[in-house]
Amino acid sequence: MSRVEKFNPLKGSSLTRERTEQKAKDQTQDSALSELTFDSVKEDAIRFGLATDLLYQMNAGKEASIYLALWKEHPIVLKAYRLYRSSHHLSAKSGFQGVASSKRSHLVLQMVENFAVVEYDLLMNCFRAGIHVPTPIGRVGNYLTMRFLGDNKQAAAKLKDVDLEHPELVFDQILDDYLIMYRDVHYVHGDLSKYNILWWQEQPWIIDVPQAYKVDTHCDMRHAESMLREDLRNVVLYFESYGIYRDAEQILQVFLDAYIPHNLRNYRESTGGEIIED
Ligand SMILES: Nc1ncnc2c1ncn2[C@@H]1O[C@H](COP(=O)(O)OP(=O)(O)O)[C@@H](O)[C@H]1O
Ligand SMILES: [Mg+2]
Repeated sequence: MSRVEKFNPLKGSSLTRERTEQKAKDQTQDSALSELTFDSVKEDAIRFGLATDLLYQMNAGKEASIYLALWKEHPIVLKAYRLYRSSHHLSAKSGFQGVASSKRSHLVLQMVENFAVVEYDLLMNCFRAGIHVPTPIGRVGNYLTMRFLGDNKQAAAKLKDVDLEHPELVFDQILDDYLIMYRDVHYVHGDLSKYNILWWQEQPWIIDVPQAYKVDTHCDMRHAESMLREDLRNVVLYFESYGIYRDAEQILQVFLDAYIPHNLRNYRESTGGEIIED
């Protein structure tokens, strides 16, 4: 897969792209493996043609840091994936960096980069399916850019921080979008909650998808079901604060009725996750 994806405003010829790919691979290795500093991210983002400036860090999560960047005068979001600070066994904390062989660091780089690949591809598929997600713009190595949801460089609020005027409507909008993501794009979000839904232009927007789980003929359908249940419970719980009570199990059933990979329809009767053919 190319490092400079086709929506990148600086998209070059395939030859240029191949060179950029190799260069990016070499150069992002350091940034993915070490702590990201504002200056190093800014330098990378500009050098890789992902942004023309980096304004400030919006958030530092476990796996990624989020920055407000500029493409010319337009604000965009840059997400930089790095090694988990504490939870991964290959983290710098566990001494990995000190003993890194080039082969191992290459593997780790691939792992970090993979989050950006998954997020970019899934955002693109969701966007194409008409779901309200930030449009992905470009990806190079472990860096990803996307549409900035917000105004005057002020980011949109998370659902947890807004007071909705028409909560029932918003509940339906979220479920409609999530159903499209599950039924048509074939993914379970895996971390859907009031923290990963933004409120912008009178619409809920689903964000933060790198942990999403693909629901296809090879998947563990029990696992998919339990992730889906968790996501739906989180959303149902949020709306209970508005006095709206809905049954997460019933909604789950609507989702499962809408889509289950054909070879996994009997997954509940199967033992030990084996696949039963129709
Ligand atoms: N496209 C975006 N537009 C505006 N704000 C964003 C956007 N993406 C992320 N953010 C902000 O950054 C925060 C963290 O982003 P998120 O993708 O949830 O990463 P993580 O939770 O892994 O740190 C979000 O809660 C939101 O406030
Ligand atoms: Mg998040």
